[in-house]
Amino acid sequence: MKGIIMSGGRGTRLYPTTKSVSKQLLPIYDKPLIYYPLSVLMLAEIRDILIITTPHDLELYKELLEDGSRIGINISYAVQESPGGLAQAFIIGEDFIGDESVCFILGDNVFYGRDLTLILERAKKELDGAVIFGYPVKDPTAFGVVETDNDGRVISIEEKPAVPKSDLAVPGLYFYDNSVVEIAKGIVPSARGELEITAVNEEYLKRGKLKAELLGRGMAWLDTGTPDSMLKASQFIKAVQDMQGFYISCIEEIAWRRGFITKEQMLGIGESLRNTDYGRYLLSLGDAGYGDEV
Ligand code: TTP
Repeated sequence: MKGIIMSGGRGTRLYPTTKSVSKQLLPIYDKPLIYYPLSVLMLAEIRDILIITTPHDLELYKELLEDGSRIGINISYAVQESPGGLAQAFIIGEDFIGDESVCFILGDNVFYGRDLTLILERAKKELDGAVIFGYPVKDPTAFGVVETDNDGRVISIEEKPAVPKSDLAVPGLYFYDNSVVEIAKGIVPSARGELEITAVNEEYLKRGKLKAELLGRGMAWLDTGTPDSMLKASQFIKAVQDMQGFYISCIEEIAWRRGFITKEQMLGIGESLRNTDYGRYLLSLGDAGYGDEV
């Protein structure tokens, strides 16, 4: 399975900050936002990852993450000339996807929770068509909303409905089989001129191939599109890290625990960041065992 992170967009709700730099390069507390979705793909044991961004930001992402070999993964890059919608990812990424299935995640979505790895493993293993997720929210009207039967089979999905049929918002994390490429090529732009991800999901629904998994109470899903939501996400990450001593979405730690790199490689990166808490955290893992529970 391949992984794609959609990390372009305009970021207009964060202007003036994002006038000159991509939102997903900004920090959520102590690390760049893109580390969070990247760590989700790594937790799903996906090691071939395509980052799609704007022509303007491409070099900055390359400088940050290089080819991924430092953390034992393969990162490639592609450009979305203008923000023509999320479903463009599968057209831009057609060659990268090849004949495989794909896990697609938005560059500004943060997930954290005890069962995350299990949920990802299940979605990957049982994929037959498409898997999306449903996350209970107080006010679903601002989101894509999914309605399901008791087996998780989707009955309807609606974009920002005035009268939602459920309280389950659809976060920016999706698993698709290989037909997503052909489906994306077949959809027409919406009224706002974008190839919408909802149109892709609707096509899977029509084919009877769309499942929704519930992300329950123990899971945090944080969207980071506005100054307030960025600050709240930073506060959340800091609170958990301070309390537990475990770092959230520390990509070098995940790479080591997943066996993508050796402990020595991880410690080498820690050494190079020794004057930060982040680097000292990596160094502190030197005493931990390979499989230690996180
Ligand atoms: P949005 O939050 O919908 O858009 P945005 O990031 O451009 O922000 P704003 O609404 O403030 O202008 O995008 C969600 C994510 O998807 C975000 O990580 C950017 C990415 N994205 C693309 O990479 N290309 C696109 O064409 C779109 C629509 C979004």
